[in-house]
Amino acid sequence: MGKAAVITIDGPGGSGKSTVAARVAERLGYAHLDSGALYRALTCWALEQARWDADDLAGLVRDGALTMTWGRVVLHDRDLTKAIRTPEISAQVYRVADLPLVRKAVNAFLRDLAARRPSVAEGRDMGTGAFPEAPLKVYLDAHPEERARRRAGQGTGETPEALAERVRRERDRKVGGLRPAADALQIDATDLTPEAVVDRILAAAAERGLAHA
Ligand code: DC
Repeated sequence: MGKAAVITIDGPGGSGKSTVAARVAERLGYAHLDSGALYRALTCWALEQARWDADDLAGLVRDGALTMTWGRVVLHDRDLTKAIRTPEISAQVYRVADLPLVRKAVNAFLRDLAARRPSVAEGRDMGTGAFPEAPLKVYLDAHPEERARRRAGQGTGETPEALAERVRRERDRKVGGLRPAADALQIDATDLTPEAVVDRILAAAAERGLAHA
C-alpha cells in the first residue's frame, strides 16, 4: 500500500463524521472520500434495477461505472449526489453493505483514489478494512441521544428508531463491521463542537507529520 497520506474517520451516523471529515479535508487540502456515498449509490442502482447480485454490484465498481470526484457521486454518467440521501436508501443500504464482495471492490476503489491524492476517508471500516496502515485513524462517536438529535436536525427524514437499527446492524456486520481500529484516536463528540473535533484531528495529524497537500 505504500505510505499514502490518509486520515481515516469512522463512526456511526449522527456522530458528526461527515461534517468533520469535510472540514479536515478542506483545511489540509486533501480529497474527501465519502465511502457511505458509494454504498448509497450502489443501493440506488439495486433498487431501480431490482438487482442485488454481489457480482453485478462489485462489477459496477471495478469496471469504472461508479466515480467520485469533488464530492459528487456519478454512476453510468448520472449524478446521484442528491438522490442517494433518502430514508429509503438509508434503510436498504445494508443489503449492499453486507456483501463482502462489494466491500472488497469499494475498498480497492478507495485505495486507488487515495494513492493518487492525500485523502480523508470517511465511513465505518476505513481504519480497519480499507486503510489499516493509515498514519492517522480516528473513531468518532457520540451519545445515542445526541446522535439522534443531530440526525433529526439534518432533515434527512431518518427517524431515531431507523438510525438506531441501522447502527445496530453496522456494529453486528461480520465483514467491515463498525468498530474502532486498535490504534484509533477515539473522540467522544457528545459535548464537542465540530470545530473542536476538527482541531483535535488536525493536531494529531501535525504530530504524525501529515502535511498540507
Ligand atoms: O455514512 P452513510 O450514512 O452515508 O453510509 C451509508 C451506509 O453505508 C451505512 O448505513 C453503512 C454503509 N457503509 C458501510 O457499510 N461502510 C462504509 N465504509 C461506509 C458506509
